[in-house]
Amino acid sequence: MRKITNLSEDWNNEAYVSLHLVQAILKQAGIAQRGWHPEFKIKEAGSHVFADFRIEDIDRHIEFLIEVKSAKNPIDNAARFQLQSRYLFHSKIRYGLLIDPFSIEIYEFAHGAAHLKAQYAIADPTQIQPIASFVKNFLDTLTMRTITINASKGSVGKTTLTVNLAYELAKQGHRVLVIDLDDQANASLTLGVNKAEEFAQASSMAAYRELLESLAERKEVLDFIKIGSRDADLAEYRACIYPVTGAFQPQSTGKVDILPSSYKTKLTSLPDNPVAHKFLDYGLKKLAGDYDYVLIDTAPSFNKIAWSAHYAAKYILIPSQMEYLSAFGIQNVIQNLHDVQQDTDNRRGNLLGVVPMMAENTNLNKRVAEYIREVLPTIPLLPKIRSSTYFGQASFERLPLSLYALSHNQAASAAQQMVELTNEVVKLIDQKESSSA
Ligand SMILES: Nc1ncnc2c1ncn2[C@@H]1O[C@H](COP(=O)(O)OP(=O)(O)OP(=O)(O)O)[C@@H](O)[C@H]1O
Ligand SMILES: [Mg+2]
Repeated sequence: MRKITNLSEDWNNEAYVSLHLVQAILKQAGIAQRGWHPEFKIKEAGSHVFADFRIEDIDRHIEFLIEVKSAKNPIDNAARFQLQSRYLFHSKIRYGLLIDPFSIEIYEFAHGAAHLKAQYAIADPTQIQPIASFVKNFLDTLTMRTITINASKGSVGKTTLTVNLAYELAKQGHRVLVIDLDDQANASLTLGVNKAEEFAQASSMAAYRELLESLAERKEVLDFIKIGSRDADLAEYRACIYPVTGAFQPQSTGKVDILPSSYKTKLTSLPDNPVAHKFLDYGLKKLAGDYDYVLIDTAPSFNKIAWSAHYAAKYILIPSQMEYLSAFGIQNVIQNLHDVQQDTDNRRGNLLGVVPMMAENTNLNKRVAEYIREVLPTIPLLPKIRSSTYFGQASFERLPLSLYALSHNQAASAAQQMVELTNEVVKLIDQKESSSA
């Protein structure tokens, strides 16, 4: 045990460490108090044990346990065993933090074992600021930026925006997860996991049926949501996620994975549970540390499945055509967002802006843009994506627009707009996160 000179006797008391060190750190790291669950009960082989805290960091989509030790009883192998092999193992919570007045150790439980992820030597437990910075920085490395792409109107470019944003973000080196919540499964088809080629080539009803049956067995988005009703291993969640195949998987350091959908994503298949709309959010917490961005593509309706997307994502993008009816539809989404914001203490439903899709240089477009600025003055209009037939052609070839533009010069300016939009989305989130830090 390291000695810290002049440490008061108080630090021999766990309750004192909990109040003056742990809770002070949580406050400074910006974790809302409603997410602190002290004396967290964990079921263990017929009986139960209590971890000192379960922390739900709703802003960062992270959940972790904290076990507090004291100067008299500091972190030792018995404490490590207890956290790793009992608390994390039985609770299925992915991260756990051990703390005493001298040090912090953070563990991750994955692939059936716990691994030390980070550690910190506390110079002086009465100086909270540097200790809280360490914890905050660690949590920031696990934080996923979650964005739902939603509009109450169909065919406004939601899927086109989702898959192209995913590709551009991955090209910048980010690890991206696309979640397809639409039973039309257009994102899953585009991203190469729904056997689009095989379906196109199926020459008989029997071959077609066989393909459908092969999808019937596959774990996908609804299976992921259903897991939310119970405690489950990370591996169970990961089994529903697949690497994207084909051109949307960039050759660089980033990656795109997909949690796919199919005809099976039916409202009637959602678990019959009053909080079923929060299960996707529960599941995402398990993935903390796996992705930098999560993009959720939605169907053009507002049912319990679409609510799942709003409860799971911190940010929202609304693609809209600059036509009167589409602009009107923006207000529907915003109305729904108010409910989500209220129900989540503003931790979800944060509108990044409206993306003018299929924009044209017409008077009508300009008038509708003016109308939006007038009626919804607080809603940012993001860089527009102009109308271009190349989106349809790129989509037919299942290529991101910027790859398609490499061999079709005329698509270059639309591809450039997609890059600009991606940069703007990243910048906006950077700004929001640095202002809330
Ligand atoms: N900027 C654009 N210019 C021209 N066509 C576009 C543009 N963006 C998308 N499209 C085309 O518009 C059609 C609808 O796009 P998309 O499928 O992305 O819309 P959606 O909102 O996801 O539709 P749904 O409501 O059915 O899910 C597609 O054929 C797509 O190729
Ligand atoms: Mg779509």
